[in-house]
Amino acid sequence: MAKHSAIEKHKASVASRKKTYPRVIAVTSGKGGVGKTNIVGNMAVALSRMGKRVVIIDADVGLANIDIVFNLRPEYNIRHVVSGEKTLDEVMVKTSHGIGILPGGSGFADLTQLREGEKLTLLGEFESLADKADVIFLDTGAGISSNVLYFNAASDQCLVVATTEPTSITDAYALMKVMSQEYGTRHFKLVVNMVEKEADAKRVYASLSNALDKFLKNVVLEYAGCIPFDMNLQKAVRSRSILLDKTPGTPAGNAMVSIAGSLVKGELKNHSQGNLTFFMNRVFEAFQ
Ligand SMILES: Nc1ncnc2c1ncn2[C@@H]1O[C@H](COP(=O)(O)OP(=O)(O)OP(=O)(O)O)[C@@H](O)[C@H]1O
Ligand SMILES: [Mg+2]
Repeated sequence: MAKHSAIEKHKASVASRKKTYPRVIAVTSGKGGVGKTNIVGNMAVALSRMGKRVVIIDADVGLANIDIVFNLRPEYNIRHVVSGEKTLDEVMVKTSHGIGILPGGSGFADLTQLREGEKLTLLGEFESLADKADVIFLDTGAGISSNVLYFNAASDQCLVVATTEPTSITDAYALMKVMSQEYGTRHFKLVVNMVEKEADAKRVYASLSNALDKFLKNVVLEYAGCIPFDMNLQKAVRSRSILLDKTPGTPAGNAMVSIAGSLVKGELKNHSQGNLTFFMNRVFEAFQ
């Protein structure tokens, strides 16, 4: 009881302060290797060029690699924040664009083990992000492991990435199914990556939304756009640079700029609750 009241008190004190809160967008997929990390990196650059303050949380407890895409070598990760050795600011690395990268390392894997004091430390640190970011991207691992699901469920928007490959489509469906059945997520956005032509992406969208309509009730899948297969992106990856920096004006780059812009348009529903403390609380609750 006493433990709970500390967190409740923290929530109440945060709620009493008037703030605008960042939008938390999870970028996720059923199947791995479909382009999540590159999409997050390029969309983050696109939004920072539009004047948004962007933070990326590497929420992949397996092989984290957003730092590689930006050619950064972070020394610390979220584990050091939990232990109180470092503040979030000290752990966060900044790209040349001013984007903050929060390396997860294996730190997020241990959330179940956190003591109440450690949770409060983490909550307080996350709350400090509210003043520093307009958009927070979560680059999650692939699949339906509980870590991935918790982060998706706690976000304001869940962007599912798939390709035209049947396995990727089936796995995207499985992810949305488990998210809707276990966490009540009712709204997803779809990006189809590595497409030859837009008609192929539309087909993927149609087959997924038909399956959702048929087998799951009240789940809405919105088409967020498609990204062409583009060798320039692979070249950028090989040189550890961001496509939008290395080769401006490519088809894939333009598509990611346009998708990023559409994600931040309009007000979020229920966003009054969508603050970072709320986000972390949902993560903690899910981990219990
Ligand atoms: N639009 C594209 N055109 C061509 N190649 C692409 C495109 N998008 C991604 N790729 C290729 O796919 C590879 C994997 O991309 P990325 O690491 O972003 O995927 P991921 O979904 O984050 O993978 P993981 O599930 O392992 O985290 C890239 O290194 C690149 O070679
Ligand atoms: Mg990745």
